[in-house]
Amino acid sequence: MELVTDAHGDAAPRLNDVAFTAAQALQHHATLMGEVVRMLCAGVVHGDLSEFNILLAHIPGESGEAGRDEPVIIDLPQAVDAAGNNHAQRMLMRDVGNLRDFFGQFAPTLLKTDYGPEIWQLYQRGLLSNETPLTGQFDRVHADVDMRAVLREIDDARAEDAARRLRMSAA
Ligand SMILES: Nc1ncnc2c1ncn2[C@@H]1O[C@H](COP(=O)(O)OP(=O)(O)O)[C@@H](O)[C@H]1O
Ligand SMILES: [Mg+2]
Repeated sequence: MELVTDAHGDAAPRLNDVAFTAAQALQHHATLMGEVVRMLCAGVVHGDLSEFNILLAHIPGESGEAGRDEPVIIDLPQAVDAAGNNHAQRMLMRDVGNLRDFFGQFAPTLLKTDYGPEIWQLYQRGLLSNETPLTGQFDRVHADVDMRAVLREIDDARAEDAARRLRMSAA
């Protein structure tokens, strides 16, 4: 990989060393969600994605035009196979959560987003492509939680606890 550079031609900084306006944070976050989706569509989850493994590259403008900054993801050796690795879902959630928390410092509206489960569910259902529009919202209850099963679990736990208390008081 060639050197990723800043506006002076020096090694580009990691995101953790840069401060952003809210608008920049939203833009870079959106770009990176697109990258996460592209990787997942290619069958890969980065697995260690955070502000420490993303550089802010400067892309020079053409013929006098102003250049722009663009995040470049590095440190991919530990990337995992999205379909074959049992931890892929958890890693994707963590990757996406890291980016939300980092950029959320600069654009707090991001802290209310939930792109991870939305992306994973689309992927699982075979509905994810590089063009899939994302909302950042995810309705956990209706999406994949079987409410009756959850209530049953709670009832079971309660019954178990009652039985345990009974045994203890009988002892
Ligand atoms: N400015 C840069 N341009 C190109 N590659 C870089 C740059 N900075 C770091 N890298 C490369 O990205 C990879 C990951 O770097 P780093 O996150 O520091 O590694 P680690 O997390 O294993 O300590 C390394 O191979 C490193 O050479
Ligand atoms: Mg690293």
